Amino acid sequence: MKGIILSGGKGTRLRPLSYTNAKQLIPLANKPVLFYAIEQAVEAGIHDLGIIVGDTKEQIKEAVGDGSRWGIKVTYIEQDAPRGLAHAVKIAQPFLGEERFLMMLGDNFTEESIAPFVKRFRDDESINCFLFLKRVPDPEKSGVVELRDGKVVRLVEKPKVPPSNLVATGIYLFDHHVFPAIDRLKPSWRGELEITETIQNLIDDGYTVDYHELEGWWIDTGKSDDIILANRLALSRLRGCVDETCLHGETDVSGLVEIAPTAYIENSVIRGPVIIGENTRIIDSYVGPFTSIYHDVLIRNSEIENSVVLEHCEILDVSRRIESSLIGRHAYIANSEKKPKALRLVIADYSNIQL
Ligand code: G1P
Repeated sequence: MKGIILSGGKGTRLRPLSYTNAKQLIPLANKPVLFYAIEQAVEAGIHDLGIIVGDTKEQIKEAVGDGSRWGIKVTYIEQDAPRGLAHAVKIAQPFLGEERFLMMLGDNFTEESIAPFVKRFRDDESINCFLFLKRVPDPEKSGVVELRDGKVVRLVEKPKVPPSNLVATGIYLFDHHVFPAIDRLKPSWRGELEITETIQNLIDDGYTVDYHELEGWWIDTGKSDDIILANRLALSRLRGCVDETCLHGETDVSGLVEIAPTAYIENSVIRGPVIIGENTRIIDSYVGPFTSIYHDVLIRNSEIENSVVLEHCEILDVSRRIESSLIGRHAYIANSEKKPKALRLVIADYSNIQL
């Protein structure tokens, strides 16, 4: 069975971070959210994966490579513009052929393993389409699913008045009947070929659409303004691994902590769950629970907790504890003794600073 992962789009809801980065590469516990999707597919036995890319294709290709890291083959499929999820499936038809396939959104992050359901779908040809559903407090932001007598009878894309609180998450299984169902679509009110309407076509044509209600959390990081929460969830899966040779001076590490072997920690307190990336240096500092510090970061004489720090940041001599913060790449935060004593800020569009 083959799989496709959709990794195009612009990620405007994650501004300003996604101005410079593909939303699928936002790291949760120092791992791009897209990698969690790839790992879910690999765990489900899929070794031939198509990745649909758009404007940010170079970044995605650089991060994922040829798939050999996961022992799989990756093929890139270019989508000229974000024309909808069903359009992405359509352009993947030459890659997919007649095989049953898994489709995932590269910015969705789920707790439960999908492997048993993928395997069941692979072996049971009586099911034409399989959905992974979730009850949510804000169904109007997603594709809403209506069930009757335990069967999927209707799907509506982002309705103003949702018929239920059950939505389709970004994981789908299809057989080849999906292609003619896409061919009949017209662009929706948002100008896209909708996957919800495709599935509605399958239902209307009498094909079998089965489902599973996902257990545990599901986060669409493309919509979430709460990367800090998603990061907390990802950190809760840490295994904990500290190479003692990274620790210097009076350093105290406790709780679930993962430190890259090339990191350097000196005279600092690290209280997990925390992950610290490659070549990152933490000196005379405190890193508190639920914090991810990515690679090539320098934190000196500062305190930070419940935060996400992206690559190449510097945080130096900051007198107040940094908390619940999301700090983008190459950010520089430092105490300055220069007169006049004032805040000096160079801030990206849509930044949010609370003093
Ligand atoms: C898309 C689908 C929607 C689905 C959601 C899951 O929404 O159109 O039906 O519920 O993904 O993440 P979009 O991300 O395009 O807003």
